[in-house]
Amino acid sequence: MTIEFILNGEKIITEAHASTRLITILRESYHLKEAKEGCLIGVCGACSVIFNGKVIKSCLLPAFQVQGSEIITIEGFSKTDAYQDILKGFEKAGVENCGYCNTGKILTVETILTKNRQPRRSEILLELSGIRCRCTEPESLIASILATADIRQRRIYGRTA
Ligand code: FES
Ligand code: FES
Repeated sequence: MTIEFILNGEKIITEAHASTRLITILRESYHLKEAKEGCLIGVCGACSVIFNGKVIKSCLLPAFQVQGSEIITIEGFSKTDAYQDILKGFEKAGVENCGYCNTGKILTVETILTKNRQPRRSEILLELSGIRCRCTEPESLIASILATADIRQRRIYGRTA
């Protein structure tokens, strides 16, 4: 089938079988390899992308559902100031950069803060439950998100909330 969608701000028209996974399209047709092939069953979050404003697992999304959507991968997101805010928030809270889970962690933080500039702990923990990382304490991730919110507020408004 022919699929049209927006990928990192560019209009894309491509051919794919309706059941081909989005992660396969991204990696094989567009060489976007930071959506990682981890579990491929929707558990680990290594394949995360932003799909119509929400973080989703690209290993679970068949091509026919990509039709008409807007997708942002970590490669596209890494060109933004918002990405830099998150890296600074991670650094401030001592969250390690990790080749396996960074994509999921970073895009999840972005969607949390897009929904709510001052998220509650319970909200953060719920959203982070979609990312598998046994080496970062949840408390550090919560601290990094609150630090990112503060850094972003200062960047945009020159002050904290
Ligand atoms: S590779 Fe998609 S959730 Fe693990
Ligand atoms: S798996 Fe990446 S820091 Fe834990």
